[in-house]
Amino acid sequence: MYLLKNISQLLTLEKAHQKDGRNLKAEDISIIKNAALVYNKDKILWVGAQNELPGKYKKLKGKSLKGKCLIPEIVDCHTHLVFGGDRSHEYVMRLNGESYEKIAAMGGGILSTVSQTQNKSIDELFKLAVKRIEKIRGYGIGTIEIKSGYGLSFEAEYNLAKVIHKLKKHFKNKIQICSTYMAAHAVPKNFPSSAAYMQEVVLPLLQKLAKEQLIDAVDIFHEPNYFTQADVIKLFEAAKKYKLPCKSHADEFKEDGGGKLAAQFQALSADHLLSTSDDSIRALATAETVATLLPGTAFFLGKPQANAKKLLDAGCKVAIASDFNPGSCHWDNVLQIACMAAPTYKMNQTQMWAAITLNAAHALGFKNQGALVAGLKPRFSVFNTDSIDKITYSWGQNLAGKSFF
Ligand code: NIG
Ligand code: FE
Repeated sequence: MYLLKNISQLLTLEKAHQKDGRNLKAEDISIIKNAALVYNKDKILWVGAQNELPGKYKKLKGKSLKGKCLIPEIVDCHTHLVFGGDRSHEYVMRLNGESYEKIAAMGGGILSTVSQTQNKSIDELFKLAVKRIEKIRGYGIGTIEIKSGYGLSFEAEYNLAKVIHKLKKHFKNKIQICSTYMAAHAVPKNFPSSAAYMQEVVLPLLQKLAKEQLIDAVDIFHEPNYFTQADVIKLFEAAKKYKLPCKSHADEFKEDGGGKLAAQFQALSADHLLSTSDDSIRALATAETVATLLPGTAFFLGKPQANAKKLLDAGCKVAIASDFNPGSCHWDNVLQIACMAAPTYKMNQTQMWAAITLNAAHALGFKNQGALVAGLKPRFSVFNTDSIDKITYSWGQNLAGKSFF
């Protein structure tokens, strides 16, 4: 049993947890000053004000967090961090007037990272990813999702799933990793159609990976010029057969019923939603599916941001993730991204914090974390400042404290 005491401010998100991450008001924030928290390896046992600590816990030696804040663990629920090479020139091309779609059509985009990734060995990709993850841990982020998707052949995607699996083992007890299979990221040039690629590579490899228990979820880029509604349905139905949860990149550039389709399949999340429709918003509002917004990507691509207010007001469960990848968002700090986006999104403080903790955890199927309340997992992040407000206010600085894990 462990005791954390004299915590200057403890963000519990208890109210947000009770409300399942929806319809959150500013006053739902749930901060305890001069707080204490008791936990064991598996769960939180007690949370409250220091002067109310029950007698039975008083004998514990405890660790003082005076001058520090404790918050539910930050989760980045959408990254593509296993890749080779970089696409810095594409960023400059966009500054100079080209669009993401045009650059992709000219031979850049995802397919360009695919060739740069194929030039690297499994070991090189693993080492690059380890460095990236160490850096992310240093921001106070404790759970990340990693998607495959820069292999795009049976063999290369299999290898990427193995790299992610190896990362998971390497970081065990340090950072929790969720492995998402996203061979349906783009259609390689040697296939006549997305349907042919689905049939020959995506679905057969899914079967193999599911059998070998190498992945935790599936994802697909549901977007004109990438994958169609019919492809999404095929992937989601196959995933259901293997009892794997689904996610999709939905309605990013063009509306294609992506949010609604994800909701119908009870996907864990529908991500991007820059161009989503009222119909999809209505469907997401009544589904368990989390609407995951990726503001860093819209900033990076110079696109209008998602209509977060509409999603929030409709009652959707909204998360924010980084989308860290070499092309559309080479930005790995989801806390910074959320702090920067929140005013534009017209999010209140509770919505902002829930978006990168509670709701982000739910977007990965982790329903037993995301708030600091008795019974949930003891997954938290420490910040070297005495007030929660200062974390948001000073997002240009890294105030993260040392991880306990
Ligand atoms: O989420 N939208 C599809 N996939 C990534 C982009 C990856 C890339 O451009 O390399 C995304 O933005
Ligand atoms: Fe993405």
